[in-house]
Order: sequence, then C-alpha cells, then structure tokens
Amino acid sequence: MITKEQLEKEKLPNHIAIIMDGNGRWARRKGNPRVFGHKNGVAAVRDTVEACAELGINYLTLYAFSTENWNRPRTEVDALMSLLLATINKETKTLLENNVQLRAIGDLDSLPRKVSRELKEAIDKTHGNTGLKLVLALSYSARWEIVNAVKNMVSEAGKGLISIDDIDVNNFNHYLTTKDIPDPELLIRTSGETRISNFLLWQLAYTEMYFTETLWPDFRREHLYAAIADYQCRERRFGKTSEQITDSVNSNS
Ligand code: FPP
Repeated sequence: MITKEQLEKEKLPNHIAIIMDGNGRWARRKGNPRVFGHKNGVAAVRDTVEACAELGINYLTLYAFSTENWNRPRTEVDALMSLLLATINKETKTLLENNVQLRAIGDLDSLPRKVSRELKEAIDKTHGNTGLKLVLALSYSARWEIVNAVKNMVSEAGKGLISIDDIDVNNFNHYLTTKDIPDPELLIRTSGETRISNFLLWQLAYTEMYFTETLWPDFRREHLYAAIADYQCRERRFGKTSEQITDSVNSNS
C-alpha cells in the first residue's frame, strides 16, 4: 500500500480529474438499489477531497453528472439531484473550514432551480478560499462544451469582436467552461471501465490516464495515492523524444 509519505512532493499533479464510476454495480453486488451506491459514493468524495487538500493539490475535478445521465430513469435522476442538494448543504461548512473553493462546470441552467441556487450560494460562500479548487462537472459533456464554445466564438465574430485570424489553441481555451482552470495532469477512472465518456475531451489532450478496478464507493485516499504514485513514474513527453526530456531535466539540474 502506498502512503502519503512515499509520494514525491515536488512531482504532485496540479490538477486531478476523476470519473467516479461503479456506484450502481457496487450497490447491486450488495443486493441494493443503484441509489444506495450513489449515497455511499459521497463518503469517497469526502475522503478524496480531504486527501487532495492535505496533499496540496490545487485542482480536483469530479464528473458528478453528465449530460447523458439525464437519460437515466427519472427516479435515479431525482435521487441524484436530491443527493447533490443534501451534500452541498451539509458539506459547505467543511469546505469553508478546509479553505476549499467550490466551482462548477457544465450546463448549470439545466439543473433543477433549487440545486442551481444552492450550488451558486456555496460557490459564492467559498469564493475567497485559497486552497484546493473543487470543480464539480454537472450536466456536463465535452461535446456540449465544445459546441457551446464554437457558438460563442461565431457570435463574437458576427459582432466583429474577433476575427478568424484571432482563433488559435490558447484563444479557444477562453471559450470553454474551464477557461480559468489548467488542464489536468492526471485522470482517474474507477470501476475498470477504460473510456473517457465525453469528459474534458479538449483538456485531456496530454493528460496521463489511470484506470482502477476499484468501484467508486470503495475509493479512498490510499487508492488516490496509488494513482499519484503511478503518475509520478510516467515520462511526460508532450510529443518530444525521451532523450530530449532527459537532456532538459539534466540541463536544469
Ligand atoms: C457513476 O456510477 C456515478 C454517477 C453517475 C454519479 C456520481 C455521484 C456521486 C458519487 C454522489 C454525489 C456526488 C457529489 C459530488 C456530491 P454509475 O451509476 O454509472 O455506476 P455503474 O456504472 O456501476 O452503473
């Protein structure tokens, strides 16, 4: 088992993104309805947030509800929204105590009014916190985000605010819901599935992927440490050769 002390402090990822998967299977294996898995997933969220804050990770993005999740049975969608509301209400105090700043990305206008209101309130209350930035992806999908960005660009071009020559990779970033958030260095997906599922498609271009069989409700800080330790063994080349990376490390030391 990897401990916190075994992690290299100078090689921690700045931003970790997580696809929390396997709640339904976890519940079914215990002979319970799927919602039981979501409820138990909150403990995993709490432990992961706490561990990231303790480690000094700057950004943690959690894929809590995708655009496609609206197509789940009505009872499950309602239960997830109620759980979200209850968790925001219950945990805002803890976020404040731990200097965690809450943010959200996604089509937030499509959330039930009560949820979006409480969410906005929690975001406002934690706005001044300077520690971990906890980003909840809610009613989020990357294709929605990219199309939305293109629509906004075309609308600005129509008003003469930007020209086609202004458009480049950096400029495009400003139109995404993650415009103030750096790209993740590490993506974790639980439950043994090895898909991206419409999550941060643009932002994950050079992200290291880590897949674990652990189902989300069982995920705890030791699983997070294992993912970070694995990440710390990777060589990040960004299209360069291994020799170029080694040479630049040597010339900087
Ligand atoms: C995926 O498991 C999980 C979700 C769609 C919801 C995640 C929500 C929580 C962990 C609870 C609340 C979160 C916050 C941030 C307060 P699944 O249902 O797809 O599982 P399965 O693949 O086994 O069916």
